[in-house]
Amino acid sequence: MSAADAVTDALRELRAEFIGVREGQLADYIPKLTLADPDAFGLALVSMDGHRYSMGEAEIPFTLQSISKPFVYALALSVLGLDEVGRWVSAEPSGEAFNAISLEPVTGRPANAMVNAGAIVTTALIPDTPDEPAFDRILHCLGSFAGRRLDVDEEVYASEAATGDRNRALAYLIRSAGTLPVDPVAAVETYFRQCAVRATAVDLATMAATLAHGGVNPLTGDTVVSAEVAAQVLAVMATCGMYDASGDWLLRVGLPAKSGVSGGLIAAGPARFGLATYSPPLDASGTSVRGHAALGALSRRLGLHLMNNPALPGSTVTLATTADDLPSAPADDRERALRERVGVVAAQGALDFTAAERVLYALDESGPERTGSVVLDLREVTTIDSVALAMLHTGLSRLAGDGWRAAVVDPADRLGPPDLVRERTGQDLPRYASREQAVQYCAHALPGAG
Ligand code: DON
Repeated sequence: MSAADAVTDALRELRAEFIGVREGQLADYIPKLTLADPDAFGLALVSMDGHRYSMGEAEIPFTLQSISKPFVYALALSVLGLDEVGRWVSAEPSGEAFNAISLEPVTGRPANAMVNAGAIVTTALIPDTPDEPAFDRILHCLGSFAGRRLDVDEEVYASEAATGDRNRALAYLIRSAGTLPVDPVAAVETYFRQCAVRATAVDLATMAATLAHGGVNPLTGDTVVSAEVAAQVLAVMATCGMYDASGDWLLRVGLPAKSGVSGGLIAAGPARFGLATYSPPLDASGTSVRGHAALGALSRRLGLHLMNNPALPGSTVTLATTADDLPSAPADDRERALRERVGVVAAQGALDFTAAERVLYALDESGPERTGSVVLDLREVTTIDSVALAMLHTGLSRLAGDGWRAAVVDPADRLGPPDLVRERTGQDLPRYASREQAVQYCAHALPGAG
């Protein structure tokens, strides 16, 4: 986008607001990370349509560190499924630091896949294939999330490999508890390499957007993981992604997120956007100070909190009346009397569970107890998901079972092909291209209509 759009303006304002924050320290337990520029501050947002917005140092590559964890967890879930992965890694917030030396008391599993212990196990669960060693699979998968091929910062990798004894200790501890399926040294080396994969804030926003978009990369259109896996990963990010600060983050910012010690931070707005920031100085729990401040402010300003979903009453059902009230109703008294007994409900937009409940409620209200038949007008409906479709089929079959007459205005076959509708509703539901045709059918099919 040009530099003069509303989203870029919002990112620019956030950068200007928080660039002056001086708190936080660079991570130094991986020596090469101290070479980062503490003043760098990049922000990026990728929409579900693949529109990219960025501000500041959003094209500087830096290492993913812990931001790799949710994506490798996604790969493990895709390869093995939730039940098998869950045998090795739990999904409870640990309430502890990312590098805590601790495992679940009875099972010996790491608390979750976001803390180091859990991430080492997750990485160890990725099997080699005949064509691709495990690390290449991981690198390939991270690249699919980013929409481009990524590479490893060999210097940062070597730096962590030289100093990462705490993670090695953790791997041996996990092995001793019987919950590491491979050699601890090999597991940690692969984990260090995945942490040293390089990406920019724009890449990270794309990766987060792919999770938010049901596993489909909005830039490339590639299905990277299933919608089910994307939802599972976002759930664990929401409860565990910010370690011992996860509860406060979900309370105040309200978005699934993941931080990394190189200064990256991602957040996902399901079905809305992916966000990323880059600013190396960290707070005590290993999260970018400026990133935390900026994403918190953005969430508040734009109303992005996951739990903040004010219902939009009236946005699904656009009409609930009887046919005599339609502008097309003729003056003739007998016709009007017939039309008084025809309920008409029109709906619009995308129908999901919530919307389908509104439509069925309106059908009930305008339906045969007060009238004798009902017309459901779906011309302005854009999509019906599988849950809503099943609800509508059941609702229409119930109407027929109660002796009501129903007709639908459905020129685009949103209710599905006639065979399916017959099977699901137990009737040959009359379907019309225009509302008036459907009303005529219902009015004249009424008992006593003659
Ligand atoms: O294992 C480590 O300690 C690092 N490679 C990654 C830790 C990390 O990024 C923690 N997140 N904020």
